[in-house]
Amino acid sequence: MLPSHLPHLLNGYSNCGLQRLTKETVKKLIHYSQEAKKQAYCPYSKFRVGAALLTVDNCLFTGCNVENACYNLGVCAERNAISKAVSEGYTAFKAIAIASDLSDQFISPCGGCRQFMREFGSSWDVYLSKPDGSYTKMSVNQLLPASFGPEDLDMKKVLDISNEY
Ligand code: THU
Repeated sequence: MLPSHLPHLLNGYSNCGLQRLTKETVKKLIHYSQEAKKQAYCPYSKFRVGAALLTVDNCLFTGCNVENACYNLGVCAERNAISKAVSEGYTAFKAIAIASDLSDQFISPCGGCRQFMREFGSSWDVYLSKPDGSYTKMSVNQLLPASFGPEDLDMKKVLDISNEY
């Protein structure tokens, strides 16, 4: 079990910056997402999801889905992992791995999580996995093309409407 409340160095020497992850690192990231899945609190859907997020500094944050009796308050695994990282001061990410119990398809992040990922850039990687450890890789941009992001809020691009209000 990973002490998921603590930042954790994953393969710190072999991956820095935007270098591609080694197969070994991807395998570990998926393993940690599967471990995080075991913590899923999903009494309503019974659909367990785990996520493992790797920062550019090679720190690891995990998350699981956490549901609520007030159904719409449930939080996805990916968003939990990202929020844990951001709340510890990490906002630059290399990759996130996602695990579920679906054996015949790769778990695909929901639209809200795609937008949540996109907040922190479009060119980092998402590993969609199956319980046997197989995976497919997609960039955030592939998952959410033509997206809206922080740069779109640049007020210099906005029409001057000051006289109208
Ligand atoms: N879920 C996630 O955690 N991540 C996703 O990307 C898809 C859906 C969770 C939300 C809910 O707790 C359960 O899976 C069923 O939708």
